[in-house]
Amino acid sequence: MHAIGIDIGGTKIAGAVVTEAGEIVAEDRLPTPSGDSEAIIDAVVGMIERLAVGYDVAAAGVAAPGFIDAAQSVVYYTPNISWRHEPLRERLLSRLDLAITIDNDANAAGWAEYRFGAGQNVGDMTMLTIGTGVGGAIVNQGRLFRGGFGAGAELGHMRVVPDGLPCGCGARGCIEQYGSGRALLRMANEIADVGGIGLQLANVRARKGALSGPDVADLIVAGDSGAIQALRELGGWIGQACASLSAVLDPQMFVIGGGVAVAGDLLLDPIREAYVANLPARGYHPEPVFTIAQLVNDAGVVGAADLARLHYNAR
Ligand code: BGC
Ligand code: NA
Ligand code: ZN
Repeated sequence: MHAIGIDIGGTKIAGAVVTEAGEIVAEDRLPTPSGDSEAIIDAVVGMIERLAVGYDVAAAGVAAPGFIDAAQSVVYYTPNISWRHEPLRERLLSRLDLAITIDNDANAAGWAEYRFGAGQNVGDMTMLTIGTGVGGAIVNQGRLFRGGFGAGAELGHMRVVPDGLPCGCGARGCIEQYGSGRALLRMANEIADVGGIGLQLANVRARKGALSGPDVADLIVAGDSGAIQALRELGGWIGQACASLSAVLDPQMFVIGGGVAVAGDLLLDPIREAYVANLPARGYHPEPVFTIAQLVNDAGVVGAADLARLHYNAR
């Protein structure tokens, strides 16, 4: 049986028909409609209907970028889109003739990496997704950790700075404000303000009026020292957070995913350095593997589909 996976992101909605082996046989993609949740739900329903044509599909998994309840039905809160106690599963079920499960987007991505990607031979794996926000997934002894109310593994909202920058979750100083794609852009702008190694960033900003994520990504690829410095700062924050996570979860592997992870070793190196420098029991605690996600942008849809299928089969 095939399953459909949908990944609702801050900028795009991705969908796919996925086999039991985690292979994508059909896919679709749309920009995320801005503003109201009605438009997002319409887009998701339309995408599932189009994808289902011609396939034997019984279940669909929908990954959303927020806090999900234990029944995998209601989105409690999304920091970067405006859902508050959104009964997403009910709303989709009323319009679709399929079994539906809701999952956190990073949980779905982490599950996909564990099942089919970087973490296949690892029982204890922690994933961080670095995109618009910072997402987290914890696989513990082969099981996806959800917490008591369903909303565990929100690793992006660990506080790393007391009274730090305000976060979309309502708290302050979360790692999301220092280790996300948006934070990278802020840090790149700060480096541009100073001049020096920030000269190229400043030039691009002056030419275009503002820096964008893709501008910074292009400069990183081109080897610009200012843009790479911004990435190193981001990596430093993530590495410190991973050191604390080791004290709590002690994973054998950290998988780094999300859009910013395409930077590869340029991102992993500063993460590892900050990790080693900040690790509790440093020098005596075994070092986990740090690696970039293998399924890159497909992880969310593949994981959401697989989780939906498992849920369906366990009924
Ligand atoms: C949300 C998470 C989500 C992450 C990545 C965070 O702001 O709280 O639920 O996984 O962004 O989208
Ligand atoms: Na999560
Ligand atoms: Zn937060």
